Amino acid sequence: MEVIIKQDAEAASLLGAKLVASVIRKNPSSVLGLATGSTPLKLYKNLIEFHKKEGLDFSSCTTFNLDEYVGLSPDHPSSYHYFMNENLFRHINVPQKQVHIPDGQTQDVPLHCLEYETKMRQAGGVDLQILGIGTDGHIGFNEPSSSLSSRTRIKTLTEKTLTDNASFFKSGETMPHHVLTMGIGTIMEAKSCLLLAFGEKKADIVAQMVEGPITSMVPASALQWHRSATVIVDEAASTKLKRLEYYRWVYQSKPEWQRFE
Ligand code: PGA
Repeated sequence: MEVIIKQDAEAASLLGAKLVASVIRKNPSSVLGLATGSTPLKLYKNLIEFHKKEGLDFSSCTTFNLDEYVGLSPDHPSSYHYFMNENLFRHINVPQKQVHIPDGQTQDVPLHCLEYETKMRQAGGVDLQILGIGTDGHIGFNEPSSSLSSRTRIKTLTEKTLTDNASFFKSGETMPHHVLTMGIGTIMEAKSCLLLAFGEKKADIVAQMVEGPITSMVPASALQWHRSATVIVDEAASTKLKRLEYYRWVYQSKPEWQRFE
């Protein structure tokens, strides 16, 4: 796992966007795994800017989102369909037919999840999976105790996640407790993973993910087993890392040919 520490969320998101752009430029038909939540917002803003100013071309890309709330229609303002359209898709040139997000209104959850996995496989698998991390260690919506080999399926959110995500819903509105999410096994099959984490409130869980034991109690710790996982954090989210100075040194010493800045 490569850990990169940047000054703030702006600098970390810009670097993350440069990594995504380098993957797309190398392979214009890249399959991107996409995330929602507050974490990737600045990264998406940068990608939109690269598209508008530098012509970063998404026309041959295919995308698969990590998750969606059960019961929300695509036009519900708190749905992840809506989030992705507002914050990325309507500003870039990825064709709608190449965009995939789990259908929270499916009548047959197991079949839909199986088909989602099949579509991912038929697309050649995810080249780069973008991830955030929940304060309870989830990636996607794989809450603690999720099987480390899990596939796309229905999950029940923890109280912690419901509280953390309440700000994405109108006050008084009932939040769905169920979600469809790629599994940890699904995420682990991506050729590379890019996880971003910002702010003091993520410092504890970032340290557990990077330096703690691999355990389903911290689902993101499975990434220690991934062959190509990059974690970009801001200073605030890095404070609990024991080997912080080593990670800084590794990044400073990175050979030129490995850099994407
Ligand atoms: P956040 O959520 O980006 O809103 O902090 C992260 C996550 O739940 O994966």
